[in-house]
Amino acid sequence: MQDPLAELMRIGRTADGQVARLDLGASRPFLVTHPDHVQQVLRGESDNFVRDGMFWRPLHSLFGDSIMSEYAEWEQSKRVLQPVFSTKTIRGLSTSMATAINEAVDRLEEPARAGRAVPVMPTMSRIVNETVIKVLFGDKIRQAEADRLIPAMEKIATSIAFRFLLPFVPDKVPMPGDKAFAEGLAMMDETLYALVDRFRTSPGEGYDIFTALCQARMAEGSDLDDAWVRNNLLAMFATSTETTSTALTWLWPTLAAKPEVEERLRAEIRAVVGDERVRPDHLQHLPYVKQVVQELLRLYPVGWIFPRVAQHDTRLGGQEIKAGQTVLISPFLSHRLPSVWERPLEFDPERFTPDKARSMHRYAYFPFGGGPHQCIGRHVFNLEAELILTSIISRFHTTMEETPTSVEARIGATLRPNQPIRMTLRPVRATT
Ligand code: HEM
Repeated sequence: MQDPLAELMRIGRTADGQVARLDLGASRPFLVTHPDHVQQVLRGESDNFVRDGMFWRPLHSLFGDSIMSEYAEWEQSKRVLQPVFSTKTIRGLSTSMATAINEAVDRLEEPARAGRAVPVMPTMSRIVNETVIKVLFGDKIRQAEADRLIPAMEKIATSIAFRFLLPFVPDKVPMPGDKAFAEGLAMMDETLYALVDRFRTSPGEGYDIFTALCQARMAEGSDLDDAWVRNNLLAMFATSTETTSTALTWLWPTLAAKPEVEERLRAEIRAVVGDERVRPDHLQHLPYVKQVVQELLRLYPVGWIFPRVAQHDTRLGGQEIKAGQTVLISPFLSHRLPSVWERPLEFDPERFTPDKARSMHRYAYFPFGGGPHQCIGRHVFNLEAELILTSIISRFHTTMEETPTSVEARIGATLRPNQPIRMTLRPVRATT
């Protein structure tokens, strides 16, 4: 447990795609990384391998019955939320998303002019939170509420790490982070329930998460209650903010370590966006931006591990899996398999040129999972990440304060950098 990520990487490298058994003392889950086996678990046998068991306990204590559950509770939430994330709806939101992002990026001008370094993770979180609240939550969350939700979420995301990594420790045994988790959750609940109450009778119109949930609860014959709305609001807030801002945080040290990639990225953006503010229609002319984002999620798939429990006996890669046993799926380890990826540790967006991407095994690269639980936010993420990256790079040069190679991954609920990182921005144009 001193360096669980290094140990997992060692096991992943040694097993190189074979099903391996981990000995965590109280629990002995199987580690599944080969693309064929991942496909069997997530897609071929998705009815057999379900979200259940002790590894889901910490998440269930946070989200309750919601889109992050399984069985009927999951299906009901998914039915309500899926339309908010259809490609058509997301396309409709793209212009307001670009506006929200450009406005959030405007606020980097002041530290850039002053030559003051900005902390990367909080800066990415601010941009993502402002965008998500305006666009996905229909701008129904007031500033004062956002000012409570955002630090509460941060507290929860960092304090849940021990429970997440050691799920077999009973709740009554105290662990580091428990107090902060309880405080974050209380703050979150107070704000979320107040919001649910404020929109009790008039959830508004439009396609946003908030309206979809409140309308479903009000629908005739509905047995959904406030707790259901709260659970899904919390699940959607957590999945839509923490993942995106963590992934974008990795971008900056990664680019700093690869100046030739950064130079090519800048050249593409300069040629397409020039002095304009980024718009969604720019993105179709920015293929390298897309490749950089894809490769970023290969090396740093922030949803780095997720478990399933077998409902009945089966075989996986020659290994017998008995009913009740747990398998761990890890995009982080699969994306670094030496037998699947050449130079797996090197950041190289060339891997994702359209013809190379087309010839990949569907489950060689799966940062968003697959099968029935595949991430519903993947189109939102791609759009948001490409717009944020392009908006910042078109307007600022960036210099890391830390040596980029000293930044390593630390595992918790998501894959975060192991240290606070800062960067200095310099306006690309004198008038910016
Ligand atoms: C870097 C960005 C993201 C990554 C790497 C990521 C990763 C994932 C993964 C691996 C899963 C599958 C979990 C499983 O199979 O048990 C998932 C599910 C999910 N993601 Fe994402 N996600 C990202 C961004 C987002 C965003 C922006 C949203 C919302 C706007 C979102 C909402 C969800 C939801 C609701 C689910 C559960 C879907 C279901 O069970 O039906 N995610 N995500």
